[in-house]
Amino acid sequence: MIFDTHAHYDDEQFDSDRAELLSDILPMVGLCGVVNMGSDFAGCEKTLELAGKYSYVYGAAGIHPECAEALPEDWRTRIEAMLKHEKIVAVGEIGLDYHWMTSTKERQIEVFEAQLELAADMGYPVAVHDREAHGDMLEILKRHRPKGVMHAFSGSLEMAREITRLGMFVGLGGVVTFKNARHAADVARELPMEFIVLETDAPYLSPVPVRGKRNDSRNIAYVAERIAELRGLSADEVLKITCDNARRLYNLA
Ligand code: NI
Repeated sequence: MIFDTHAHYDDEQFDSDRAELLSDILPMVGLCGVVNMGSDFAGCEKTLELAGKYSYVYGAAGIHPECAEALPEDWRTRIEAMLKHEKIVAVGEIGLDYHWMTSTKERQIEVFEAQLELAADMGYPVAVHDREAHGDMLEILKRHRPKGVMHAFSGSLEMAREITRLGMFVGLGGVVTFKNARHAADVARELPMEFIVLETDAPYLSPVPVRGKRNDSRNIAYVAERIAELRGLSADEVLKITCDNARRLYNLA
């Protein structure tokens, strides 16, 4: 029972074996759902294609902060049209990235807030990316109060608690298994289970013991084991609870 709340199977790293992975390998390990994230227009198109092809694959459509700079004038209308697809369950991946800073803060905030409004108008949760932008992020979330998830959460336990007070979920993945990731371990141990969902961010962020290799949804088992160990639960319990949480997050029956 693995629900991967955040993956990028449209990524070119899956070009050689995407069909095999999605049609045979992943369903065989008991995967119950994957939400593929669009990051730009091409990625969103590909997400729609994958969601149309595989029953357990759902999609999110949105513009990633790294792609916020050179958008066509009608970008909002185009995203809105894609959001009407029946297998789309969220607006994502959207947010702020002050690490790569491929566009200005002002531009990133403008594109992020426009998509928060779109999500609110259409009744969708959001999948949020926050890298080195915690201050602006919290301020914006407090103003917009979206439903959704903070993906690949990298902040402190205190910030995680603030996120959950806003009613959002916290997405945990491979980082939880890294030895030096003290914040992530604190969050995985202390945050009430009802707010935690699991994710890969595949093909990135593979957990120990496959760190550095291409990631896929099977590896969530390692993340579940680590969280189980930190909390004194079984890995199966962690998978079951987080799978139920993921369904609540994305409004799936
Ligand atoms: Ni991502």
